[in-house]
Amino acid sequence: MTVLRRLLMTATTILSVLSCAGRADEYVIGISQCSEDSWRQKLKEELEMATYFNDGVTLLFASANDDSQLQQHQIDSLAASGIDLLIVSPNQYDLMSDEIDKIYDAGIPVIMFDRKTNSSKYTSFVRADNCQIGEMIGHYLAEKIGGKGNVIEIGGLKESSPAQERHEGFAKAIGQYPEIKIVGFEYGDWTEDSGEEAMNLILQKYHGKIDAVFGGNDRMAVGARNAIRKAGLDNEILYFGVDALPFPGNGICQVADTILTASAIYPTRGDELLLLALDILRGKDFARDVIMQSSIVTHENAEILLLQYEEVVRQSNYLKMMYSQAGAMHDSIKLQQIIIGIILLSLIVIVILLSFYIRAFVQKKNLYENLQAEKEKVERQRDELEEQRDRLIELSITGHNEDEETEQAGKDVRGDSAFIQKFTQVVEQKMDDPELSVEDISSELYMSRVQLYRRVKTLTGKSPVEMIRQMRLAKADKLLSETSLNISEIAYRVGFSSASYFTKCYRDYFNKLPRETHKI
Ligand code: FRU
Repeated sequence: MTVLRRLLMTATTILSVLSCAGRADEYVIGISQCSEDSWRQKLKEELEMATYFNDGVTLLFASANDDSQLQQHQIDSLAASGIDLLIVSPNQYDLMSDEIDKIYDAGIPVIMFDRKTNSSKYTSFVRADNCQIGEMIGHYLAEKIGGKGNVIEIGGLKESSPAQERHEGFAKAIGQYPEIKIVGFEYGDWTEDSGEEAMNLILQKYHGKIDAVFGGNDRMAVGARNAIRKAGLDNEILYFGVDALPFPGNGICQVADTILTASAIYPTRGDELLLLALDILRGKDFARDVIMQSSIVTHENAEILLLQYEEVVRQSNYLKMMYSQAGAMHDSIKLQQIIIGIILLSLIVIVILLSFYIRAFVQKKNLYENLQAEKEKVERQRDELEEQRDRLIELSITGHNEDEETEQAGKDVRGDSAFIQKFTQVVEQKMDDPELSVEDISSELYMSRVQLYRRVKTLTGKSPVEMIRQMRLAKADKLLSETSLNISEIAYRVGFSSASYFTKCYRDYFNKLPRETHKI
């Protein structure tokens, strides 16, 4: 039992070691994005790439397409799916406050990213300084138009914090140039189309000269430019935006192509965001307020930035390739571990079954040997008894008139040879019966045991018991040399119920072992 228990414990240990191999903490992080665009896509890819180096992290993404109500529902579903932490860019501060407070109050850490709510219920807030971005662009624009002129501003989505802060920063900077006038302002919703619509609204009201347009982001600035061009207005207008994404058709490329005059980098940094989330989840120290650096992209540095970005893309492609190769290796190692586990388990099961089998076999063998010993004892006692009875008969007939007895015996069976023939026949017929006794034979021959004894002794010089044994052994000897029956079968055929006792009697009589005579 202890062996079995030890084997089972070994099996359990092997299984648990195999199933735990390589498993790190398991965290589920929900990411609620307010919009779906290239900036959000870049952030998503960076977050995903950061999981390559952080095993055991699952990211659940939801994107609200600039709809605050939809974002509320999505956050509810993320929470219901059991996230450990929420990263959220709230679409609008008023509309999203309660929902995010609810998550925070439920004990789920919240990282506010890029946009914020009205509430201070967040674990950490990561963003660039949008006020400073607005200010930086404002000064650059003022410089580019020589400190005087008419400027249009297209604000980002109303009630979203970057829109408000960029506007405030821009107004602050422009306020320092008395000869620059903001001649038109409308809100967009961050999309290119909304920039175009906002510009059209402005153009309906304002018909004067325009020197520059500031879009709350690059897309809206380009949208405004489209509206102006469609209206067939002056080409000399300068356009400024925010985001400066390095992909074709986006900020930096548009600055390089002079579609935009300048843009401010609005960093994504998904990798750092994930590390911050893990620090929070693992109870490490972290900063509650993180401000990411921004910088201005102009026609002078746009090409260099694009070249550098190309290099970054090349490197990250290598990284992705290495990751997928490592993934394939990891999968094959896992498979090997499973195969090894199955082999080990099968071996353990085989060993357990074998041990059961051996135990049962040994028990059976012992039982058989005990039975044989018992049988041998009984047979030996039976023979001794028969011999003692013969000796008693011998003693009792001493002094009797032998002739009389012989004569009497002779009356029952005609002739000596006929008697011996009949005796032999009866013994041979019943030889396979281990219970066969001298009494059985004497009653078959219609004579008393004493008469049988005297007749057999007189004619053969041997007692009936000796004769029976001799005949059994002679028959056995014949079977041994003529048949392929095994020794036990032969022993049973000639009336020994114990093979070992048969072997002993055979050796005493023939001076050799049965197997020396045996045919095979
Ligand atoms: C992306 C975006 C950016 C903008 C930011 C403000 O969804 O609209 O263009 O800079 O969000 O939160």
